[in-house]
Amino acid sequence: MLVVEDLTKTFGANIAVDAVSFTVEKPMMIGVIGRSGAGKSTFLRMMNRLTDATSGRLAFEGRDVLGLTGRSRRDWQSDCAMIFQQFNLVPRMDVVSNVLHGTLGRRSTLATMFNLFPRDDIHRAIDILERLGIAGHGPKRAEALSGGQQQRVAIARALMQDPKIILADEPIASLDPMNAQTVMEALRRIHEEDGRMVIANLHTLDTARRYCDRVIGMRDGRIVFDGTPDQLTTGAARDIYGAGADFSEAATSTSIDAIETPAARALHEAEAIV
Ligand SMILES: Nc1ncnc2c1ncn2[C@@H]1O[C@H](COP(=O)(O)OP(=O)(O)OP(=O)(O)O)[C@@H](O)[C@H]1O
Ligand SMILES: [Mg+2]
Repeated sequence: MLVVEDLTKTFGANIAVDAVSFTVEKPMMIGVIGRSGAGKSTFLRMMNRLTDATSGRLAFEGRDVLGLTGRSRRDWQSDCAMIFQQFNLVPRMDVVSNVLHGTLGRRSTLATMFNLFPRDDIHRAIDILERLGIAGHGPKRAEALSGGQQQRVAIARALMQDPKIILADEPIASLDPMNAQTVMEALRRIHEEDGRMVIANLHTLDTARRYCDRVIGMRDGRIVFDGTPDQLTTGAARDIYGAGADFSEAATSTSIDAIETPAARALHEAEAIV
């Protein structure tokens, strides 16, 4: 279904994604983990053609994704909707209009200019919001909603595109645990009920283990782990994060980054001596 072969992205001398290869046979929920700078976002951005790959191959259902241009590239971007950590909603616009913006890819410039939406689309937007349990907030400005609710609006906007794949870049990194759970459950349900593939960059191990069928671990642009949550042992996780023996399962990519600064390491060593 999805074939990724030697996908590489370099920025000058820096190799952000280094010959990444994997295949996906059927729609799954895949979590991508790894410390800050491992190449997770760059990988997702190449996948939906927000950024061009330096080399490699990416095929989805036989379609050569990296070769798409113009209209077919935009069609592909509709097929793989993106969700971001910061939701990327229009804060002062109402929730329903934010969701309707998911259809922008296929509307005329004139209709867009005047904010004209077909009645069917409006009904569909409301149905999707209902499904995500936030239809009651439809008329409110997006900025009036909690983070978890805003992320569900972003998911609703993505669903308006009727995508085959949902790419989520740290969808819960800005949310408290309760909201994070609601959002992850929504993504999981969309995967199970609609059969859509979900690929999510996640910054905590337990989230990847709990919600994903498969976990891909990246380190310095390379895939260093690819397996089921069961196979993701503490040792494997330590390897992915390049962390020392003080590695904690509860750590996040951000906190590991903090642990690994030279100053923090010196502090830990000093504490060990004391
Ligand atoms: N536009 C860019 N120009 C130059 N270098 C970049 C650019 N985008 C990313 N990089 C570099 O590519 C590498 C991978 O970055 P990327 O953002 O993909 O990592 P990440 O795993 O998503 O990290 P984080 O967990 O912090 O989001 C880093 O070294 C980063 O500095
Ligand atoms: Mg990132």
